[in-house]
Amino acid sequence: MIPSPSPFPEPQPALAPLTSAAVFLVVTVEPGGEQQVRDLLPEISALTRSVGFRVPEAALSVCTGIGSDVWGRLFAGPRPAELHPFQERVGRIHRAPSTPGDLLFHIRAHRMDLCFELASHFMSRLEGAVAVVDETHGFKYFDDRDLLGFVDGTENPVGSPAYRAAIVGDTDPEFAGGSYVIVQKYLHDLTGWNALTVEAQERAVGRTKLSDIELDDDEKPADSHVTLNTVEDDDGNQLQIVRRNMPFGSFGRGEFGTYFIGYAATPSVTERMIDNMFLGDPPGIHDRLLDFSTAVTGGLFFVPSQEWLDADHPAAGSGAATEPAPATRAEPDPAPTAEPAPDPDPHAGSLRIGSLKA
Ligand code: HEM
Repeated sequence: MIPSPSPFPEPQPALAPLTSAAVFLVVTVEPGGEQQVRDLLPEISALTRSVGFRVPEAALSVCTGIGSDVWGRLFAGPRPAELHPFQERVGRIHRAPSTPGDLLFHIRAHRMDLCFELASHFMSRLEGAVAVVDETHGFKYFDDRDLLGFVDGTENPVGSPAYRAAIVGDTDPEFAGGSYVIVQKYLHDLTGWNALTVEAQERAVGRTKLSDIELDDDEKPADSHVTLNTVEDDDGNQLQIVRRNMPFGSFGRGEFGTYFIGYAATPSVTERMIDNMFLGDPPGIHDRLLDFSTAVTGGLFFVPSQEWLDADHPAAGSGAATEPAPATRAEPDPAPTAEPAPDPDPHAGSLRIGSLKA
């Protein structure tokens, strides 16, 4: 556990280092399933201890995130100040969708069996109460590389800067110790990517491939991933988030990707990065990585402090969701894009991009 440099409640283990394995599980809560979810949340710590204590060196941990729409169905009383649904972005060429999701379980360990075992305890307690909309099993790939072959995570803040970047402080005292997490599942066009020269790949990322050194400013194009994700406040201080991306893949489905997960004290920092990537900064460009990476999910969740999660909270009086539908952020005058038709499938919550069920 990373020592907390503040008097605020202990966070969930958002800042825990990368592990060799992770399960990212996103579920929606069925109408009437709220009480089952409320029963599980305070038990998560004990379940994690039960599974993890048997193999302490595997460093099992879980962060549980709660989405905006379900918050008002689960709890009466105040809600995190900046919790809202993930907003779709429609750029001139690339789109970041907003997809269903009420709960996120980000389960990490050095062994996949522990991640799987913990997920199975959660899912047996939630049986009948939730639908799995996405399940991604991530793995460590050599020296923390993504499937594009680049080391991913180097410029993450560590120690106190990581805490300040990712954990809510006294701006929202009721929810201090919490964190806002944004997830996006990206699928890579590896054939297209691997057809580029290494130099062209390096210009797309903004770092060298083998040695993982940042390119000089005069070599780094305006549309490189690093350029567009280096954001500052009005005083010129760099704004940071804590990323714990993992690669995943399936030969059968022909899917090879990066599961992006970013923790932040305010979702506005991560959202600004996503705006830069999809809508451009300056407008008109987009992150070159997006030409080889398609976002297929997008979700925003609040990860309350460990103390908050472990405690009982008054139940919501009614089952009604109170949040407005997510708005779309678009570039000015975007090219017309066809809206996907509504899914007539009764299992419409499923994105058909991975499920617990075969
Ligand atoms: C296809 C998905 C993505 C891939 C493969 C990817 C990969 C990378 C790589 C290889 C780096 C350079 C090494 C490092 O510092 O970590 C990097 C940096 C970074 N990425 Fe991503 N990333 C992805 C999506 C995102 C998204 C969606 C965001 C933000 C919402 C983001 C934010 C950042 C930031 C803040 C940096 C560090 C910039 C710096 O200060 O140098 N990434 N990413």
